[in-house]
Amino acid sequence: MARPEKHIFICGQARPPGHPRGSCADKGAADVLQAFQQQFEQQGFWGRFGLTSTGCLGVCDAGPAVLVYPEGVMYGKVTKADVDEIIKEHLLGDKPVERLQVPADLW
Ligand code: FES
Repeated sequence: MARPEKHIFICGQARPPGHPRGSCADKGAADVLQAFQQQFEQQGFWGRFGLTSTGCLGVCDAGPAVLVYPEGVMYGKVTKADVDEIIKEHLLGDKPVERLQVPADLW
């Protein structure tokens, strides 16, 4: 497999109900992953970009968390409605979406 131009990591961590850190799974991470997968299919991104569901990325308060490399940009509180913008602006346009980035004191 060739190295992808960019790689998207989506936190899919689940935790038991009432856990103090909560989890991205509880906040809709599966919907975000599914929206990315649909766009990857429709736009033929497989092989060009990477898409991986991960465990905790460390910014649980800001979940669902989405991390994009090689830039190392962490997005927080991502919803499926944000996916098209991340793809258009960041993946294809090389301009990270500022409004979705987690605060610097978090990550
Ligand atoms: S549970 Fe998703 S960042 Fe920690």
